[in-house]
Amino acid sequence: MTTTAIEKDEIQLVYISERCAGTDDAAITKIKLRAEPNNHRRNITGALLFTERYFLQYLEGEAAVVDALYASIGRDSRHTNVRLLMRKPIQQRDFARWSLGVKKLLDNEENQDLIAVLNMIGRASKVTETQLEWFKLALQ
Ligand SMILES: Cc1cc2nc3c(=O)[nH]c(=O)nc-3n(C[C@H](O)[C@H](O)[C@H](O)COP(=O)(O)O)c2cc1C
Repeated sequence: MTTTAIEKDEIQLVYISERCAGTDDAAITKIKLRAEPNNHRRNITGALLFTERYFLQYLEGEAAVVDALYASIGRDSRHTNVRLLMRKPIQQRDFARWSLGVKKLLDNEENQDLIAVLNMIGRASKVTETQLEWFKLALQ
């Protein structure tokens, strides 16, 4: 007799938030060190992009687990103004290899376009599919 694994519904979620004054780069390293084993245990994958001002995070996994993590992240005092940009069902993960990839987007000439877009998203709390593709490429 064969058994078929029942796939749980998976989602991808993206939010933007603003770093609090005390959240320096060392604090972000601490977040990463804690988040990696947590996410692994919960079968969550994702990536965190940050600039001097913003965080933009992708989270992927079982819907209820991702929603619960997002709720807890939303209460974290190391950032503020947490806004959901996208939440959608997925068949396939974009960050399957990472429990939490973390990347700092340096404020240099090479990144000016991405930083300008991020500032725009931060002000408007809205993002387009195309803009999300750019960030995905920058993170992968
Ligand atoms: C920008 C940001 C991103 C975070 N990302 C994650 C994450 O991907 N996974 C995680 O477990 N915690 C993440 N955290 C930390 C959570 O808010 C929370 O502190 C943590 O899940 C609690 O972990 P603990 O139960 O081991 O104490 C993040 C915090 C911030 C400020």
